[in-house]
Amino acid sequence: MNRKIPQQITRRAFLSTTAKVAIGAAGLLAGSTGLFYYGAVTHRKVGSEARPKSVVKLGRVADLKLLQGVERINYEAEYVDAWYTKPVKDFVYVTIDEAGKLLIMSPACSHLGCSVVPAKEAQQGGNADMFFWCPCHGAGFDKQGGAVYAVTRGLDRFEPIISDGSVYFDIMKPIRETEKA
Ligand code: FES
Repeated sequence: MNRKIPQQITRRAFLSTTAKVAIGAAGLLAGSTGLFYYGAVTHRKVGSEARPKSVVKLGRVADLKLLQGVERINYEAEYVDAWYTKPVKDFVYVTIDEAGKLLIMSPACSHLGCSVVPAKEAQQGGNADMFFWCPCHGAGFDKQGGAVYAVTRGLDRFEPIISDGSVYFDIMKPIRETEKA
């Protein structure tokens, strides 16, 4: 094939290419800014009709701030994925950690998913850090959901979403705890 390979780029070709790259970069930037803006708007509108059915209202910020110890909060929501939607009735454990941060913990044991319950003295087996106990195979978790017995990963958490003076969380977005070595 007789293909001509330019030895030198002309000034006109250089300017034309530079302009195309600049326009492309500006387009990309505009697109990503739009995404961030969309995220911000979604966050602010979470309490309105725009709220996805998988987002659950936990309670008023003012009430949750007064939480003492660990509280179990029941909820109803909808599990929604690309294939199907189904109603969900479940609960989370909620507490405030030493730093004053609200923790929303899934009750699903990190071993095989059974719901953990508050540990009785006999179930703690002398491990005072064990606050939650799994009735299936005996795994233990501390008050903040950290693994303390028989498993190496703590309970999943949900990020609190603050909107209009209330706290919400999305059941479709659990945050997986990292495995302890
Ligand atoms: S499911 Fe919890 S210890 Fe196995």
